[in-house]
Amino acid sequence: MGSNFVRHVMETTPYRVTILDKLTYAASRASLSGLEPERCRLVVGDVADAEVVHSLVADVDAIVHFAAESHNDNSLHEPDPFVRTNILGTYTVLEAARAYGTRLHHVSTDEVFGDLPLGSRARFSELSPFNPSSPYSGTKAGADLLVRAWSRSFDLRATISNSCNIYGPFQHVEKFIPRQITNILRGTRPKVYGDGLNVREWLHVEDHSRAVLTILERGTIGETYLVGTGVERENISVLRMILKLMDRADDYFDQVADRPGHDARYAIDSSKLRSTLQWTPQHDDLEAGLSSTIDWYRRNESWWGPGKDAVEAAYGERENTRSDGS
Ligand code: TYD
Repeated sequence: MGSNFVRHVMETTPYRVTILDKLTYAASRASLSGLEPERCRLVVGDVADAEVVHSLVADVDAIVHFAAESHNDNSLHEPDPFVRTNILGTYTVLEAARAYGTRLHHVSTDEVFGDLPLGSRARFSELSPFNPSSPYSGTKAGADLLVRAWSRSFDLRATISNSCNIYGPFQHVEKFIPRQITNILRGTRPKVYGDGLNVREWLHVEDHSRAVLTILERGTIGETYLVGTGVERENISVLRMILKLMDRADDYFDQVADRPGHDARYAIDSSKLRSTLQWTPQHDDLEAGLSSTIDWYRRNESWWGPGKDAVEAAYGERENTRSDGS
């Protein structure tokens, strides 16, 4: 999400960008390749390191806070980096923004609201109470609450966005859509958790980048905006679209043990962002978006290939552990 946003800023604005990234397993320098070095600088460091964060914030007009551990499955396995990066990292950014009076946009997820029952028509809004399910969403909810508190107590000029599930180029192969695409490209069967009937709302990463830039430039200070498409699909139906687009039979997948505490359905009402800031998603056809995403993964095996085996090995171990109950 961060590298796509930087690319969007480079293409559509005259701004210069300094990126602070720890370059954990989830990041890659190659995601920034081709960007003008005069306008885009990468600093390798930890968002929870106050010294480095303060030294960078001293020189910028605005902060867009993307840095987070973001994968639910990893948070169930090892919550520690989630608490450190998502909570302490956000606290560190907030204190730096407060020290320099810097405008902040905080990027978050709809998962802070918990989940909705399958089959209901309810959607979350900016006013929905937080009810997170996993260490990941719990730490994002904690981070969002810190931003709200700093905004109110210290008049920090902050906005927050909570988006639905994202897909598109440069997404790590641990996530649902790229995992299945790259499995198929490697000749391995896709893996569906449980019955595959969990529902997610899908947003193309370029539409997310446009939303974040719009809120940064024109959002009302102190406000939260939900970013979504209304395009809700069961996991199994997304997988069947991918299978069709990649010429595989529609039963070419394995069902594996379900994720513990697996959220049933996420759905959000993004009308505030649409009506007050005139944002609308441009990639509103999921099948077309998946098709171009599949093409991207076909053409960029050099980007995703090197980490793929390790991700599948880790998944394999956890999936076995869940299915034998140990
Ligand atoms: P994911 O991409 O991990 O995002 P999130 O947990 O934030 O929604 O997963 C999307 C959905 O796909 C979620 O319901 C879990 C499911 N899933 C699978 O069925 N198989 C997989 O291999 C993965 C990674 C996820």
